[in-house]
Amino acid sequence: MTLRDFGPKPRLLDLFAGCGGLSLGFEEAGFEVVAAVDNWPEALAVHRRNFRHPAIELDLGDVELAKAVLSEWTSGVDGIVGGPPCQDFSSAGRRVEADRADLTEKFAELVVAFMPRFFVMENVGRAAKSAALRRAVGIFESRGYTVDRVVLDASRCGVPQTRKRLFTIGFLDQEGTDRAMRALAEGLAAEPMTLRDYFGSALDFEHYYRHPRSYARRAVFSVDEPSPTVRGVNRPVPSGYPGHPGDTAPVAAELRPLTTAERAMVQTFPADFWFGATKTAAEQMIGNAVPVRLAQYVAEAVREGLMSRENPRTSRLASRSA
Ligand SMILES: C[S@@+](CC[C@H](N)C(=O)[O-])C[C@H]1O[C@@H](n2cnc3c(N)ncnc32)[C@H](O)[C@@H]1O
Repeated sequence: MTLRDFGPKPRLLDLFAGCGGLSLGFEEAGFEVVAAVDNWPEALAVHRRNFRHPAIELDLGDVELAKAVLSEWTSGVDGIVGGPPCQDFSSAGRRVEADRADLTEKFAELVVAFMPRFFVMENVGRAAKSAALRRAVGIFESRGYTVDRVVLDASRCGVPQTRKRLFTIGFLDQEGTDRAMRALAEGLAAEPMTLRDYFGSALDFEHYYRHPRSYARRAVFSVDEPSPTVRGVNRPVPSGYPGHPGDTAPVAAELRPLTTAERAMVQTFPADFWFGATKTAAEQMIGNAVPVRLAQYVAEAVREGLMSRENPRTSRLASRSA
């Protein structure tokens, strides 16, 4: 059975949608995004310029309001996907989880308010051990979802970047979750993708600068390796950069950071995706995004899950054609 046999495209809602990395990856895999939601006007403006579906401005922290507004969009929706913001998860117990980690639980409350057949939630890897994630999983399971999760390295999923992200996935039927998780494990590339693999002869440099969080880390990378995680800030080479033994080349006059457009392409956005916001906002939403090809990789696994025999929609179809 293929997705076409499944009937019309599976429909979904994208919460905390930003500029739309997750939306675009799901669309590329054959899903229809019914609506996207965020509370950041600049990201919504970018989203609207690149997609046909509505991008709704809404504070998803107000769950009761969100339930009321979203009820207009959820009828016939097969799934809810979303990447709640990640800044406030504690890392190795050093930071106290704050308000924004709660948005992970609010995502769960919104999913169970509408009970779609599946959900996908994306978080930073360190969320795996957080209390907020534990509580969110409890909310999903208490309403009958079979929940599983996996940390995916984008460089094994068609993206030239070692970005590690946690995907928590649930279906109302266990077979759906099992099939999706199997597809996620089986589709991984054996080798990480490098910038040269992705861009080929379009590259006109061999090494580039990526500002490190501290000078204890290296800052010069080669195109023959995956890029490090694209973050929300981008800096030029500072005059005081001391160099690092791990750098792939010495700091020389021609060394530069990737441009905003190049960083968007490392996030596997198509070259014609419009990021006409201010440069600072564009850098932030590019750094926030799920790489499009990673989202597509996850979406294709979800599609496998939707083919499950226990899925009421596919089994209805199967019995009709028998
Ligand atoms: C990690 S980013 C999501 C990126 C997106 N999934 C993508 O692939 O491009 C998190 C988003 O949550 C939004 N956000 C934060 N707090 C919010 C709230 N209270 N209500 C709605 N959106 C919120 C931010 O504006 C940001 O765009």
